[in-house]
Formats: sequence, structure tokens, C-alpha cells
Amino acid sequence: MREVKALLHRDFAIGTTDPRLFGAFVEHLGRCVYGGIFEPGHPQADERGFRKDVLALVRELGPTIMRYPGGNFVSGYNWEDGVGPVESRPRRLDLAWKSTETNRFGTNEFIDWCRLAGIEPMLAVNLGTRGGDAARNFVEYCNHASGTALSDLRRAHGWEKPHGVKFWCLGNEMDGPWQMEMKTAQEYGRIATEAVKMMKWIDPSIELAACGSSGRNMPTFGTWEQTVLEHTFDHVEFISLHTYLNNYAGDTAAFLASSDLMDSFIDEVVAIADAVAAHRRSSKRLMLSLDEWNVWYRTRRNRQTRVLPNWPVAPHILEEVYTMEDALAFGGACISLLNHADRVKAACLAQLVNAIAPIMTEDGGPAWRQTIFFPFAQMSKLGRGRVLRIDAESPTYETRYFDPRGSIDQYYPLPSVPYLKLAAVHDINAKSLTLFALNRHLHEVLPLDVKAEGFAGLAIDQTLTLHDADLKAVNTKDNPDRIKPTALKGAAVAESHIRVALPPASWSVIRARGAG
Ligand code: AHR
Repeated sequence: MREVKALLHRDFAIGTTDPRLFGAFVEHLGRCVYGGIFEPGHPQADERGFRKDVLALVRELGPTIMRYPGGNFVSGYNWEDGVGPVESRPRRLDLAWKSTETNRFGTNEFIDWCRLAGIEPMLAVNLGTRGGDAARNFVEYCNHASGTALSDLRRAHGWEKPHGVKFWCLGNEMDGPWQMEMKTAQEYGRIATEAVKMMKWIDPSIELAACGSSGRNMPTFGTWEQTVLEHTFDHVEFISLHTYLNNYAGDTAAFLASSDLMDSFIDEVVAIADAVAAHRRSSKRLMLSLDEWNVWYRTRRNRQTRVLPNWPVAPHILEEVYTMEDALAFGGACISLLNHADRVKAACLAQLVNAIAPIMTEDGGPAWRQTIFFPFAQMSKLGRGRVLRIDAESPTYETRYFDPRGSIDQYYPLPSVPYLKLAAVHDINAKSLTLFALNRHLHEVLPLDVKAEGFAGLAIDQTLTLHDADLKAVNTKDNPDRIKPTALKGAAVAESHIRVALPPASWSVIRARGAG
């Protein structure tokens, strides 16, 4: 391929990445909690049952905020079931994942785990089977210091100090018929507004996300956001959106293009939120919480990989094994997130362990990194700072992306997908300029020349690339390092031009320093 030229300037930034952009998600789903982060009796478990091997990988992955306890699960969850003496906690049917929930792990254990991991907790309240009353009680239990029945109950349970949880989700995917007690936008808007009023009366410092659409392909997308925000606009800080990229069609080029539709989704939600603001003559700008995103399709539509018979505890469901190709599509989504740093101020990789996750474990056995682990870890580590605007002239290709919803098969045309997808982050403190680059050409090297104006004395500090001739290669328990990043040779800087050759079908990170 001919050389692709890109231009950026130190003074032209999209925005600064919020630490919460690098979040993830722990749901009571399959083996995410049980056998994932928590497995009493495992040789690596600490005295609280937290797996230390998983914790070490979580620290390496670098999530900053963790959403809990769902997901679909939260729409039937009684938070009271998960607190207090473990032996008196009820076993319940979880209708979301057709499992039995033992409640051995609950809110207090989650908060302890977050503190141990150095991660901010993000809690979701149940606005499916429950409503404002349970939500306000949950905030009081978690965040009120003392002197009331619920705050003193927390203290009696062994947590003297309030948890101080700042970020709360107002339910989950309430637009989806798969949700327990799905709502219309009008119903949800009203319930969420009344819930948030009470939650903030208890703790005015909390921030809240209203449910947006659970996918861009939802028939109600757009009207849902508008109606919900007409109710909640004055009360919330965030509107959520969820995206799962797929390769149902078995078309790699289309799959690698799919994160461009995630860009469109983000832009569209911003437009709707700002239209609601304009309608109210409001200068308030809502931020976006992309609090579920990932690649997910193999274990999505197939019932055998989604639910198992007889209401098992912690079943092996949604255990998607990620390929090299998935890591590339996922890396494209990372670039989408960075390039929307001005409005996406929170995001959660769904999920953390075992269920559609970057980390896999065996019950009683080892833990290992899936292919998607690497782009996330690199983004979290090196993506902190000012995201710069880039003008690039990349050759393009034409494709169409298949994104079915229910019985409706939907194709989305993508007439001109640039082979190069690129983000650039300037970290003033580290004096670094880091490029995150996806080469979507499946067979050709992409020679890249980035002119970095306003930066003097840059020198290549670190390069990493994820690239493999076998796009279907995976990491497994027996071969956990089959896919891992390697150094990208040949990157150089001369007179503020960063030059690098991106291998075909690769995701790369090029970090230059001296950019004070
Ligand atoms: O992350 C898996 C599931 O995907 C979540 O429970 C739900 O919110 C979404 O549909």
C-alpha cells in the first residue's frame, strides 16, 4: 500500500481521557464472580476467597472502574439478599441467566474486592422488578455514615465506614424485551426520574447514568433516548449505550470495520442528548457511559452456550474464546473510545472474567489472558492524556456489516472504510505521544508517516504490535501465550515525523517521548 500521511498538532485536542474510560464489568453471570474473581478453596484464594492469580491479571489489565452486579441480572436482584451473614443469605433463581444465585458474594464483598484491586466501584440499581424505594435504600445502606436503620445495618455487617460509591446506573437495558420487567421509554423515564431524585436527596454527591439503548440496532433507538432524556435530563450526568461487535457473517473485513459503526452510535447519542439540551435552551452537556462494550457473538444467539438446564450455580456460559481477529476488532473499538474522549467519560469492557472476558480461569486451576486482554491493557496504560485530532488520508475499502436483532436481519453499508484507524494521545506528565493504530488491510503492510507538529525532540520509546498470520489463533489454558504483543521493529522519528510500517491485519502502539 502507498504511504499514508497523517497530521496532528500538539495544540489541537479532542479532549482528555477520563480515568473512567478504562472500566470493566463484573456481573453475576456464569463464572464471572464464582470461579472468576471469587473462589474460596482455590489454592490461590486469599482469606476472603478472592483469587490472587486473577487479581494479579486484573492489575495488569488496568481497569479503573468496575460495574456491578449486572447486566440483565440486576433487573431481578434484591440487594438485601447479598448482605449480612453468608449462612443466612437466600438462594434464588436468577431468571436472567437461568441459574441459581447463592448470594455468597454480594455488595460488601464487591466493595472490598474493588478496594483491594484499586478500582472505583460502579453500582447498578434494579429498576426492573423493583423501583425507587429499593434504590434509595441501597444508597442509604452503602453511602450514609450512621444513625439510621440501613446505615447501622451496614455497620453491623462489619463495614463501619460508608462505601462512598459515586457512580450509579439506573437499571440496565430497560428497552430490551429480554429484561425482567422491561419498560417503555415513558415508563422508564418516569421511574428513573423518581428514583434518582430520592437517591440524590440521600447523597447529593453521586453521579447517575440513565439507560440509553442496548444497541444501535434496537428498533426504538433514538426515540428511546429522546423520551428518556426528556424525563431525566435535569437529574442525571450520563446516558448509557451498549455495543457488542460481531462476526456472524464470517467476513473479517466487515468485522474490522464494525467499530466505525460504534463511532456513529456515539455521535448519534451525543446528537440526541444535545438536541434535548437545545430544546430546553440548556447549556448542560450530558456525558456518555458506554458501560457495556466488547466483541460478542459465538455464545450470544446459541441457547446451549447461553443457558443450561436445571438452574446450575455458576454455569459455564458465555465463555467466548477470543481469536486474533477479535483482538483487532476490539482494538478498533479502543481507538473509537479514545477518539470520543470529549463525550464518552465512562466505559466498561463487558465483562472481566470468564463471561465474554479478557481473563479466563479454570475452576481450581490456572488463569490466563485472552487475545483481547492486550489492546485493553495497552489502552489503559498508555491512553491517559489529551487525545489529539488527526487528519489522515488513508485508502479505503467498501463493505457491509451484518448486525441482526431478533428475527430481523440487518445489514449496514460501509461504503468507505479507511484501512487505517488511528488515535494519538499526548501525556503531558510522561512527556509522551502515543499512537494507537489499526491496519485493516488483511494482506498489505501500511506505511504510516505521522507529522506531529508542535512536538520537538521526539524519540521512539516503545512499540508493540498484535499480529499473527493465523487470524483464528487463540490463547488457551495449555497454550496461554499463543497470541501476545511483540515489539514493532523499524519505527523511527525524524524532524517530527513518526514513521512506522504497520503489518497487515495488526493493532499497534507506538510511543514516542520527549513531547513535553
Ligand atoms: O454482558 C452480557 C449481557 O449483555 C448483559 O447482562 C446485558 O446487559 C447485555 O445484554
